[in-house]
Amino acid sequence: MTELPLLFTPLQLRDLELKNRIVVSPMATYSAREGFATDWHTAHIGKLAAGGAGLVFVEQSSVSIQGRITHGCLGIWSDDQIEGHAGLAALIHQFNAKAAIQIAHSGRKGSSQRPWEGGGPLGKADIDARGEGPWEIAASSSIPFDNGWPAPHMLTAAEIDVVVDDFRHAFRRARAARYDIVELHCAHGYLMHSFLSPLANNRNDEYGGSRENRMRLPLRVAAIMREEWPDHLPVFVRISSVDGVDIGWSIEDSIAFATELRAVGVDVVDCSSGGMKLPRGNSLVSRTPGFQVPFAERIQREAGIPTVAVGLIREAEYAEGILKDGKATLIALGRELLWNPNWPAQTALALGCDAEWSHWPEQYGWWLKRRVAQQGR
Ligand SMILES: Cc1cc2nc3c(=O)[nH]c(=O)nc-3n(C[C@H](O)[C@H](O)[C@H](O)COP(=O)(O)O)c2cc1C
Repeated sequence: MTELPLLFTPLQLRDLELKNRIVVSPMATYSAREGFATDWHTAHIGKLAAGGAGLVFVEQSSVSIQGRITHGCLGIWSDDQIEGHAGLAALIHQFNAKAAIQIAHSGRKGSSQRPWEGGGPLGKADIDARGEGPWEIAASSSIPFDNGWPAPHMLTAAEIDVVVDDFRHAFRRARAARYDIVELHCAHGYLMHSFLSPLANNRNDEYGGSRENRMRLPLRVAAIMREEWPDHLPVFVRISSVDGVDIGWSIEDSIAFATELRAVGVDVVDCSSGGMKLPRGNSLVSRTPGFQVPFAERIQREAGIPTVAVGLIREAEYAEGILKDGKATLIALGRELLWNPNWPAQTALALGCDAEWSHWPEQYGWWLKRRVAQQGR
C-alpha cells in the first residue's frame, strides 16, 4: 500500500482527531448584522466545510462591541449570539470536519470601514452613506495606528481587567456553541498584538516596557482560555511572528512567547505576521509563496510547540513538503479556498489518496467520479 500523504493523515490534538491537516484559516467577512451571523455566514462556512478541510475556522469574533473592527464584524459578546455560532459549528460538523472559532478584540484598529469601503477609520462620510458612525477605540497605549487614525484610549489596569473578563465570557460562549477549538487572536495589530509589540506599546506599568511585561496580558488571557476550555480539547493562539524584517516584535520574541504559551497549556501556535504600520524606512516581510513558513518552522522547532503554517500556500506538493520536512503540523489556507473551496478534496485526488472520492460530499462525488471516469479531468 502506498503511504498516505501527511496532508491526509489524521492528526490527534488532545482527544480531538482531525481527519486531515488542512485548515480553513480564519477569514473575517464583515457581513454580520449587529454582530449576529446571517445567511451569508451559513452559505460561506457551508461551502468551505463541504470542501473537505479537517478544521474550519469561523472568522474572528469580537469579545465586545468596542472590540469590533467594523460594523460588520461577527460578535460573541452576548449570550444571544450563541445560537448563530451553534448553527455554524453544527454545520461544520455535518461535513465531518472540526469547528474552530477565533476570538478577538480589535484594539486601535477598531472603528474602521470594511476593506471594500476603504479600510480607513470611520468618519462622517460613513454616517452619511450607511449610517455607520465611529466609536471610541482602546489599546495598550494612545499611539494611533497610522497618520490620520484616531488616538486610542490607553486602557487603565482596571479596564484591562474588564477586557480579560470579556474574553473569559467569550470563551464560555464559544464552548456553549460547541466549537471544538478556540483560538486567541494575538496577531495583525489588534489589541493583544498592541500589547506585545514595542511599536504600539509605550506603557510604563506592569503591561509595558520589558518583553515580559508586554507579554503579560496576552499570556493572562491565554491562561484563561485554557482554563475555560475543556481539558480534552485543544486551544490555539495566532501570532504575528514578526512586525517587520528589521523592526519591532521579532522571531526571537515569538519563540519566547510561544514557549510561555506552551507552558500555560496552549496546544498550537498559528504563525502569521505583520499588521503593524511600520515607520518609514523599515521593511515588511515580502509576500512570496510560503513566506511565513520559516516562522512556523523555527517556532515549532525552538519552542517545541506544534505550529500552523499559513500564507500564500497554494500547491498540494508544496503543502505536503512543509509537513514532510517537519516545518509545521497543520497547513492553513485562506484566499486559495475563497478561489476554490474544493481545494482539499481536489488535492486528495491529485495526491492519489482518494480512490473512493471520500473527501467529497456524496451528493457531488458520485457524479464527479463518473464524469472523470468517462471524460478525464
Ligand atoms: C478575506 C480575509 C479575511 C481575513 N480575516 C482574518 C481573520 O478574521 N483573522 C485572522 O487572523 N486572519 C484573517 N485573515 C488572514 C488569513 O487568515 C490568512 O492568514 C491570510 O490570508 C494568508 O493566507 P492566504 O495567503 O492563504 O490567504 C483574513 C484574510 C482574508 C483574505
